[in-house]
Amino acid sequence: MAPLFSLFLVLILLLLLTPYSLCQLEEFVSIDCGGTSYYNDSTTGLPWIPDSEIMKHGKAVEVQSPNGEVPLQYKTRRDFPIDSRKYCYTLKTEERRRYLVRASFQYGNLEDGDTYPQFLLFLDATKWATVSIYDASRVYVKEMIFRAPSDSVDVCMCCATTGSPFISTLELRPLNVSMYATDFEDDFFLKVAARINFGATSEDAVRFTS
Ligand SMILES: *[C@@H]1O[C@H](CO)[C@@H](O)[C@H](O)[C@H]1NC(C)=O
Ligand SMILES: *[C@@H]1O[C@H](CO)[C@@H](O)[C@H](O)[C@H]1NC(C)=O
Repeated sequence: MAPLFSLFLVLILLLLLTPYSLCQLEEFVSIDCGGTSYYNDSTTGLPWIPDSEIMKHGKAVEVQSPNGEVPLQYKTRRDFPIDSRKYCYTLKTEERRRYLVRASFQYGNLEDGDTYPQFLLFLDATKWATVSIYDASRVYVKEMIFRAPSDSVDVCMCCATTGSPFISTLELRPLNVSMYATDFEDDFFLKVAARINFGATSEDAVRFTS
């Protein structure tokens, strides 16, 4: 009887575990701005979707990186018009659930007479960050944790002081942990101060699936 029993246990464990990880994955949203195809990330396995069907404004631009080969999601960016309008991606959320949202920006080489952009990033009406680009090859990352006020949030670019607003990637991850709960979360968002891997033996980032 013993082998049967343990098999049964393993099956139950599998049944419990499988929906968990699948659920989590399906709830991750990773948008390749300016991209044109659906693909799975070769390092994380996460599925990326192009923004062509969800963003009607601006134009997709191929990025010329001084680094040579870059991950697929950084081969394109989306540039928005230089005016005072907000250009927004609407992301579905579940009201009162906590999320991590991450926007990244890699401009690539300047082309004839361009200047590096500086512009504002908003989450709904909240000013989130000023994005200032100084380096063609660097990926600038803005990240925050917030509690969803309703069933969607808008991530918006606007108000360039130089260049045109743009974005390379936009990611949304639901958090089920209470680790980031604060007494102020209905009025404030959490901003990343630093990420330090104490005692790490390499400079590689610790991230999903590893
Ligand atoms: C996280 O919580 C939501 C409800 O808020 C639930 O639907 C979902 O299955 C949970 N996900 C995991 C991985 O526990
Ligand atoms: C990504 O991986 C999933 C699960 O393995 C698969 O079903 C899907 O077809 C893949 N998508 C692409 C675009 O390759």
